[in-house]
Order: sequence, then C-alpha cells, then structure tokens
Amino acid sequence: MGSDTNPNTPTLHYFVTPLLHHSTTLPLRMSLDAQLLAAFREADEGHVTAAELAKRMGVSPATISRHINDLRQLGFDIEHHAQLGYRVVAWPDKLFGDDIQLQLGKTVIGREVLVYAKTASTNDVVERLGLDGAPEGVVVFAETQTQGRGRMGRSWASPRSKGLWFSVLLRPKLPMSALARLTIAASVAVARAIREQTGLSAEIKWPNDILVAGRKCAGILAEMQAELDALKFVVLGIGLDVNCDAADFPPDVRKTATSLRMEIERNAPSVAAVYDRRGYGAAEDGGHRPPLQDAINRSDLAIALLRELDRACGLACGDFETLRQEWGRLCSTLGKRITLQVGPRRLEGVAQALDEDGALLVRCDDGRIEHVISGDVVTEK
Ligand code: BTN
Repeated sequence: MGSDTNPNTPTLHYFVTPLLHHSTTLPLRMSLDAQLLAAFREADEGHVTAAELAKRMGVSPATISRHINDLRQLGFDIEHHAQLGYRVVAWPDKLFGDDIQLQLGKTVIGREVLVYAKTASTNDVVERLGLDGAPEGVVVFAETQTQGRGRMGRSWASPRSKGLWFSVLLRPKLPMSALARLTIAASVAVARAIREQTGLSAEIKWPNDILVAGRKCAGILAEMQAELDALKFVVLGIGLDVNCDAADFPPDVRKTATSLRMEIERNAPSVAAVYDRRGYGAAEDGGHRPPLQDAINRSDLAIALLRELDRACGLACGDFETLRQEWGRLCSTLGKRITLQVGPRRLEGVAQALDEDGALLVRCDDGRIEHVISGDVVTEK
C-alpha cells in the first residue's frame, strides 16, 4: 500500500510493504468531469477560463461548456463570467467516485472508487466484487444502505448522504491468525482522519468503535472469505456518522451514538477551528462561512480517510510495531479495568496491550494473560 505500487516500477515503498498483493497496474481513470473538479479545487474558489480548461484537458471550449452543464445537472452551482471564466460557487454534498479516485492519486486503497446512490450493504457489494476477482483496494460507497449491518448481527443506520458508508476489498498476505491487525489499522485510520479534518479528539474503543467525547461516531465491520483455512479476501466495512442528527439513530443507541456535526456543534470553539482549518473568514468580520455540513465536507473526509487507511493497512502488513504504537496513543481502553463478553464467556481484567497478531492482552484477576481477538467491552472503568 502507499504511493507508487506498480510492480513494474518497484519503489522503496513497494519493497517495505511486500506482504500485500499488487498484481495489476493501477487503473487511474480520469474522467473529464473529475479533471474539471480537480482544476476547480486548484483554483480554490477562484475563476478559470474555458480556454485554460480546454488547453489543460486537450479538448475544445465547446466540450468544456457541455461538461460544465453536466456538472450543473449534478448539483454544482457554477457561475460564468465573460472575461474571468468559470467559478464553482457551491459544491453539492455528494460523493463522486472519479473525483475521490483522482484526488487520491496512486494509493492502492481507492485505486477504483464506486459510489452507489443506494444499496443493501456495501459489504455485500464488495464481497461480490471479491468473488469475481476484483483487485485489492476497490472501494464502494453508498449514499444510503437499506440493510447496513454492524457486528454481532446488529443493524447499522445509514441515512442518505449523512455519513460515509463504505467497504474496501483487501487481499492481505497475512496469516488468518493476524487478521485482527486490519481492524486495528482501520480504527487508527478513522481516528486520525477525524482528528485531522475536524480537530475533534477521536478515540478508539477496542475492538472496533471510534468515540468522540465518550459517544460512538464510527464502527468497523471486517468480514473474511476463506476456503479450507486459506484466506481469499477481507471486506473492511466502515460506517462514519458525519452529519446525522439524534433523530437519525435508532432509539436504543440514541444516548450512546453521535455524529461529527453533533460534536462540533456541542463545542462552539471547535466549530471555529473547523472553519479556520478550511480557510473561511470569521463571521463577525463579515467573512464567508458556508453551512456547517460543507465545512465538514464528506468528500474531503473520505479522501483523508482512504489515504490514512492505505497507510495503516500498509503498516498492518509490514511495520506493525509502528501501528501498534499509534493505536496505543489513540486507544481509550488501554490501562482500564474491563468486563468483556467473548462469545458465551465473560472475562474481567485490565486491558494491557496488543500482541503481535493484533489481539488484546487482558490481565485477568487470577494473573493469567488472555489474548482476545474479538469481543464486546461491556463495562470499562
Ligand atoms: C459496528 O460498529 O458494529 C460496525 C458497523 C459497520 C457499518 C458499515 S457501513 C458500511 C459497511 N456496510 C455495512 O453493512 N456495514 C458496514
């Protein structure tokens, strides 16, 4: 994982993460629409002339004008000035696969990004792609899921366009006993992306929850396909509540669930930080401040998260020690006295560390150390 992973041009990075599967060249599709969006991102709310765009993309100004109209149909508010050219006034709150893919560059995770308006579960879509032989790194987002699922047979609410609901296909060269490392990688990636994009103090609650101020805003569901004890692939599903309101959560989790927007609104100073980070002027100075959901832009968050995931999965399959240390700095469970439900068993002890395989080491009251790969923390003190 990481940057240039084309096996025909081996780089240092390719050799330091040799455990992942890189069998095909990277199919970087660059649709003209995605290239236009890239040019507008670079212009940073400024104008770009049709002639500049046409030259950059090697097409006629008439073609540019046609594609600008396509973007308007998709919800982009694009103004045109006779001398200055085009300027994007407002971006729709939608995810575009080509745009995300182009912004990611040459990462393995996100080498192909598909966005569905609606699907039952993105984990099911990626499982089908995996069985059909799709390469590692394919990502499927859905604006909404009708049967989003969580761990332990729970359902996962996925209200339209209010979060990031997506799954990634991984073909790691890891023994089955070490697959817990991938959940560790995903949790580090989600916590880091939230911190970087919003300034919120996201923490990891072992094994797969991401909390802000003690409430869950994201979860991870890793599902594997194996045959005769040989791993075929892993589907890593991630749900991140970005712009949900309390009413979007089912009643049974309403007290324990949250979204990034709810946490930012709860904490006015960090709202200002979100605007500052994105370069918007202060409201009292008459500066332009877009609606908050544009300030926590889902596309930017998705791109940051996939970059982090690409890096963390590379570490999970190579320099696991670095990942383990990062996880230790972000995990709120470590050092705490916990009661765990592990299948039918209840276990009490102190969460101490991760072992080489990514399992949690728990020192039980009788002095035994248990290696726990998966379970539910029932209480922690
Ligand atoms: C959990 O906390 O129990 C895990 C939640 C995982 C939800 C995500 S949303 C995208 C992907 N598709 C699903 O059906 N589930 C995961």
